[in-house]
Amino acid sequence: MPTDTAMAFHAEGVTKVYADGLRANDALDLRIAPGEVFGLLGPNGAGKSTLVKQIIGLLKPTEGTLRIGEHDLVAHPEIARQLCSYLPQAQMPIDSFKAAEAIELTGRIRGGDRATVRARTDALLEALDITQWRDELGMKLSGGVKRLVGFAMATVLPGRLVILDEPTNDVDPLRRRLLWEQVRRLGDEGCAVMLVTHNVLEAEKSVDRLAVIMDGKIVAEGTPSALKAADRGQLRLQVMLSPGVETPESPEWVRHPVRVGNNLVATIDEDAASAGIDWAVGLMGQGTAEEYALGATTLEDVYIRLTGHASANGEDEA
Ligand SMILES: Nc1ncnc2c1ncn2[C@@H]1O[C@H](COP(=O)(O)OP(=O)(O)OP(=O)(O)O)[C@@H](O)[C@H]1O
Ligand SMILES: [Mg+2]
Repeated sequence: MPTDTAMAFHAEGVTKVYADGLRANDALDLRIAPGEVFGLLGPNGAGKSTLVKQIIGLLKPTEGTLRIGEHDLVAHPEIARQLCSYLPQAQMPIDSFKAAEAIELTGRIRGGDRATVRARTDALLEALDITQWRDELGMKLSGGVKRLVGFAMATVLPGRLVILDEPTNDVDPLRRRLLWEQVRRLGDEGCAVMLVTHNVLEAEKSVDRLAVIMDGKIVAEGTPSALKAADRGQLRLQVMLSPGVETPESPEWVRHPVRVGNNLVATIDEDAASAGIDWAVGLMGQGTAEEYALGATTLEDVYIRLTGHASANGEDEA
């Protein structure tokens, strides 16, 4: 594991107030060490992209400091661009480049020598299982393959801080796994990785630590297991409602019920397990529900408790 902790990323007291008065970031403190994969989670509009844009110099903080080691990213956006790699949430415009060309070009622009960049491009295409599209023009690539090419562009010559905004969007479950392996590798090679996502279950499997951001503030931070520790003694009750029924009234000991589609998810005390089962079975008897499951709480339950939102889960939840 890398030991170069001198190059850690630090955000201190970062506040961004937009011209219309909206406080999109409110005194954020964060630290990401080299070798660490850090998740930044939060619902739409929480302030994640606002933070990212300040790190890479697209926006100036109203207050606060952003540093990598001793380097002040706000005072020196040119250093920020050198020290950070960034995969934006929106697709890259690479229509008139072939996949491998786009990746190599990015590596060359970042100052890599031809041989190193070529070798690393080939290795990434192989590792992400997209070699078959290496000579395909960007405009002809499918959404998921384009996303993977974007990831390869962002990481062909990674900076000290690699920022990935929803990297697995549109990517199929098998290649998602390959992508996560590469994210892990970036950490092992000494990069600090900031992973911006709505997908709590994916994050739970991939990050060392995470922060949940809500209305511009950090509402929780820690390892996935530390965040779940607060929910010890709790169970997750999931009721699959019959299509089209109204959400049933739940007893007050059924906490934080959230419905997504026909899926109603809530937490209950371990002591209430049999009452929970009786309630769910009763709903099935009335035809309101089709099935239920009672199990250990996940990071998603913590996220729902903190934000009041269900997360956007990928197809790959295994
Ligand atoms: N240029 C801007 N001017 C004014 N308000 C803005 C601007 N950009 C973003 N906002 C607002 O700031 C808040 C935070 O937006 P931001 O894009 O940082 O959220 P996010 O966490 O990245 O959301 P998402 O998950 O949807 O990408 C939102 O309320 C948004 O409407
Ligand atoms: Mg965003």
